Amino acid sequence: MFPLSITPYERRYLQRVRDLLFHNQLVHTHLDWHETDQWLDMQTAPMRLAWYKGRLIGALGVSAPLNRTCWVRLAVVQDHADHLHVLHALWDDLALELRSRFVESVALLAMRDWILRYVPQLGFQYMEDIITLERAGANLPPPRPNHLVIRSAEVSDLEAMAGVDNAAFDPPWQLSLDELRQAHRISASCTVGLLDNMVVAYQLTTLYFDGAHLARLAVLPQMQGLGLGGALLGDVLQRFFRRGVYTMTLNTQSSNTRSRRLYAHYDFKPNGYDLPYWVVRL
Ligand SMILES: CC(C)(COP(=O)(O)OP(=O)(O)OC[C@H]1O[C@@H](n2cnc3c(N)ncnc32)[C@H](O)[C@@H]1OP(=O)(O)O)[C@@H](O)C(=O)NCCC(=O)NCCS
Repeated sequence: MFPLSITPYERRYLQRVRDLLFHNQLVHTHLDWHETDQWLDMQTAPMRLAWYKGRLIGALGVSAPLNRTCWVRLAVVQDHADHLHVLHALWDDLALELRSRFVESVALLAMRDWILRYVPQLGFQYMEDIITLERAGANLPPPRPNHLVIRSAEVSDLEAMAGVDNAAFDPPWQLSLDELRQAHRISASCTVGLLDNMVVAYQLTTLYFDGAHLARLAVLPQMQGLGLGGALLGDVLQRFFRRGVYTMTLNTQSSNTRSRRLYAHYDFKPNGYDLPYWVVRL
């Protein structure tokens, strides 16, 4: 095997990583709320670079660990390199740091198929599909009676929203306060639901050229099943109707029966764009 050197990512290598991403096919990016340049510019989470004779031929980066888990955010290998050899070398070195930071599992959402040829050899196992649901039109079911006060979220709500998010979602689906701050920044609509002046639910929706995308919907566990999620969903759909936007997509785990029932009730249907979700335990 040809000798590779593996180094941590540093900001001075940003341009080289950009070039590698630009000139090669085997690219995986799952950056959620950030553009690639922005993410590389601010990157502090664990990331490794693979060099051969001084040339950058691979990179592998994860999200900042949260509650002992993280996501593969970026992976790229030079097209004509030995892909598995490079990915293995990057992964083995990165996993050492993740273990030292008490990370217990790493998740991957396969945005493109190429990476699925290699991740089983790195120990990843298939968990389930993340399905995409879509709805169009202005029909809405009558809301269930509730006392929820819904208003646009402010920066001062972010900590309370993070509390709802981390209570409602299990790792690795939780958002850190930094991620929530960035998500709020790029959102087209972000609302909180309050009972007795306490934030008990929130939603966050982004806008694309072809419609809205519900990126986050969460209700405190002890307040679920009372129509609050439906109330926030109905409200945000109406907010977009007022902006002339009548289509909305969303993703959810195929095993999430409660969310799927709610979305079915609001006429969301699968559109077939499903992504496999894989996990490796360290
Ligand atoms: C999924 C989630 C947001 C739903 O919110 P919720 O407040 O529990 O949901 P609701 O009470 O509004 O809806 C739940 C039920 O009421 C039904 N319902 C909601 N609005 C209704 C209405 N207007 N009329 C009749 N039924 C309604 C739903 O179909 C659903 O049916 P079920 O009782 O058979 O499950 C919430 O459970 C949650 O935060 N889960 C954890 C995080 C998560 O999974 N988020 C979504 C990720 S995509």
